[in-house]
Amino acid sequence: MILRNITSDVFYVGSIDWDRPMFDELVPLPDGTTYNSYLVKGSAKTALIDTVHPAKTGELLESLRRAGVQSLDYIISNHAEQDHSGSIPAVLNLYPNAQVVTNARCKGLLSDALGVPAEKFAEVADGDTLSLGNKTLRFMLMPWVHWPDTMATYLEEDRILFSCDFLGSHLATSELFAIDEAKVYAAAKRYYAEIMMPFRNHVQKHLERLKSVEIATIAPSHGPIHARPSFILDAYADWASDRVKPEVVIPYVSMYASTARMVGYLAAKLAEQGLGVRVFNMVRADLGEVAVTLVDASTIILAAPTVLGGPHPGIVGGAFMINALRPKAKFISFIGSYGWGGATAEQLKKMLASLKVEFLTPVMVKGVPKGDDYKLLDELVEAIRSRHPGLTKGLGIDGQKGSRAVAGG
Ligand code: FEO
Repeated sequence: MILRNITSDVFYVGSIDWDRPMFDELVPLPDGTTYNSYLVKGSAKTALIDTVHPAKTGELLESLRRAGVQSLDYIISNHAEQDHSGSIPAVLNLYPNAQVVTNARCKGLLSDALGVPAEKFAEVADGDTLSLGNKTLRFMLMPWVHWPDTMATYLEEDRILFSCDFLGSHLATSELFAIDEAKVYAAAKRYYAEIMMPFRNHVQKHLERLKSVEIATIAPSHGPIHARPSFILDAYADWASDRVKPEVVIPYVSMYASTARMVGYLAAKLAEQGLGVRVFNMVRADLGEVAVTLVDASTIILAAPTVLGGPHPGIVGGAFMINALRPKAKFISFIGSYGWGGATAEQLKKMLASLKVEFLTPVMVKGVPKGDDYKLLDELVEAIRSRHPGLTKGLGIDGQKGSRAVAGG
């Protein structure tokens, strides 16, 4: 359990999950995570902003006891996902007079998932305010960062934005604030890639709206608090922008090294042109690391041998993930080896139907790549290079260092 002051009347009462390995049985958590819950003590009323994961309920209740909370007036629920709402029934049990303050969509989800009775809710709309006496909470609906129900709560007097999932990071740390910004940046980018990237357009819209809000502190529901809001807001603005970087991501699978040879050749040739290259063997890749590279990359090449007439199953999960994450890449192609036929490239293309990209001519070769097959790969390299004007061989766009080739994987 953790009880720490943020200001004299605002407390952190969240929980650190140091060794949680996966989120939603889907997203690897190499650095654990936190479930941030905040207590705001006004002169007349007390509010709890979000709760914690059900497994950490005991810690939250103990923190509220240590904070001397005799009665609780409001539980502000910014988002119904149970890592933030899961303790609401237990908190209501301890403080039966508390009202759950949330928007209509979140109310419905909380009723469905947790059975919170209808009479416990106080429904709010975008822009509504709630007075705690000398403190005022203002609610800002922010759908799709992460679910349609998500909202942020703004504490006007202290200029604190409680942003819930938005602007957060999966990072277990005893540092309440983002002090080690390099470390937080990496965790926040991975979090953005895995959680927020599919909603990039919504992220852009919400960032634009926040420009008119005077924010001194951003207190998300995962990871450290931002006492320097521009750090995370600028990072999000970059990631969510339409700008891509001259980087090529190559997720691949290979059975007898033919596809791997093609990948190695392609990666080397692209790097010689000044493009950054990341190669991932999808049999053992950390999907979070793959997702991070998709935040900025201009180009994706899926590489796989043909099995039973279609792509090797090892690449299918990767294609599904890319389609679901909807990265801003502009160019996609496919390479791989086949034995006697098949429709690997066509099937992979169908799996990427949600992406608005230009599909470049694929290179599918029979057996081991040889002679003219390498010319076809050279043509693919040229097709990619020509779509990145300004590249300087070995240096990247406009001669800037920083393009990189990381092959193997
Ligand atoms: Fe951290 Fe969408 O829950």
